[in-house]
Amino acid sequence: MSAKVIPVLDLRHIQRAAHVPALAEAATGLLSDTLARPLRDLRISVTDRCNFRCVYCMPKEVFDKNYAFLPHAALLSFEEITRIASLFVAHGVEKIRLTGGEPLLRKNLERLVGMLRALPTPSGNELDLTLTTNGSLLARKAQALKDAGLNRVTVSLDSLDDATFKRMNDVDYPVSDVLRGIEEAHRVGLGPIKVNMVVKGGLNDQEILPMARHFKGSPVVLRFIEYMDVGASNGWKMDEVIPSAEVVRRIDQELALVPVAPNYSGETAARWQYADGSGEIGLISSVTQAFCHECTRARLSTEGKLYTCLFATHGHDLRALLREGRSDTEISGAIAHVWEARGDRYSELRRADTTGPLAEGDSTAPRKVEMSYIGG
Ligand code: GTP
Ligand code: 5AD
Ligand code: SF4
Ligand code: SF4
Repeated sequence: MSAKVIPVLDLRHIQRAAHVPALAEAATGLLSDTLARPLRDLRISVTDRCNFRCVYCMPKEVFDKNYAFLPHAALLSFEEITRIASLFVAHGVEKIRLTGGEPLLRKNLERLVGMLRALPTPSGNELDLTLTTNGSLLARKAQALKDAGLNRVTVSLDSLDDATFKRMNDVDYPVSDVLRGIEEAHRVGLGPIKVNMVVKGGLNDQEILPMARHFKGSPVVLRFIEYMDVGASNGWKMDEVIPSAEVVRRIDQELALVPVAPNYSGETAARWQYADGSGEIGLISSVTQAFCHECTRARLSTEGKLYTCLFATHGHDLRALLREGRSDTEISGAIAHVWEARGDRYSELRRADTTGPLAEGDSTAPRKVEMSYIGG
């Protein structure tokens, strides 16, 4: 059970999905990358489509009616996803998050949840099985997801003000439906529920305090996310990022906050509690305080490519290995090989200033994949 046999695999072969040599033994077991980071989380994108057009993620001008979304045959089936997930679990993955696009647009997603829930883990511990959703279909789906074995959900919500929310989702979607989804998820026991608010300066930063007031005293953990330069189409500019330190400053002026220790190493959000004990918030600061040094996340795209960073420009084609009949041992070895060669730390390398090529997109650099494709 050693991953040491893996170097015989060549990454270029995995990318082209050809000539993957048989490995002497199953390459299961815990993995560590070149920066000594273990593989702990798998984020699976189940669709590249979404019914929203959030300005920071799928701007309407790019994701219009002519946009080439993946054809159905390109998508991994639930059986294929589950098979790949089982190999990741054998390599030490303890947390699986379903993402998209909007994952609840994928038909019968609860069937996939049930299949993943049934996966045995080497430690015998239950997998942490979660979902990030825009909430629009949550009220309808929450009970079925819970019954299938989903542990909890994270809901994206950028504003409580209808006009601002509609400006951000850009499809005229009302806040009330998302709030109903959150309530229903809470009612059926899909907690602790987290709410993600992407803060884009000049667009919804006036909503920081109303959002904090609204969720304070509730079991929902509100997380503020710095607007990121992910993908290649959102026109990201550093001066539209509101640093987390500023978010904390604005909230703390009215509602006193105290920092608290992380729940676990590698947590994306820095935690703060209200000093009066009425709940907590999180700050996800991928721009101003990168957390790459503890990043344990692998991403599986909708069409079965393995990405080792949210900001990657290319992935490794696991679907081709599946569809050409490779064994579990071979695919497991390929996964191990990719992880052991990993050295990604995009956010840490991003220029702190606003002028460098990493900061504002270098037109000569390879194109980063879109978040709706790779999965948030
Ligand atoms: P939990 O804390 O377990 O609930 O999960 P999470 O914070 O990993 O998941 P979620 O899907 O809510 O992600 C929150 C935000 O952090 C999203 O905007 C993600 O895109 C971002 N994020 C998650 N993982 C990474 C990462 O590895 N790198 C960067 N830069 N951002 C990430
Ligand atoms: N910057 C920060 N967060 C983003 N998300 C989508 N695009 C961006 C971006 N450019 C968030 C979504 C969702 C999470 C998975 O990622 O709002 O909550
Ligand atoms: Fe859809 Fe989520 Fe992207 Fe918004 S952030 S467009 S809801 S995938
Ligand atoms: Fe991980 Fe890449 Fe995000 Fe850094 S930028 S935390 S390496 S996904």
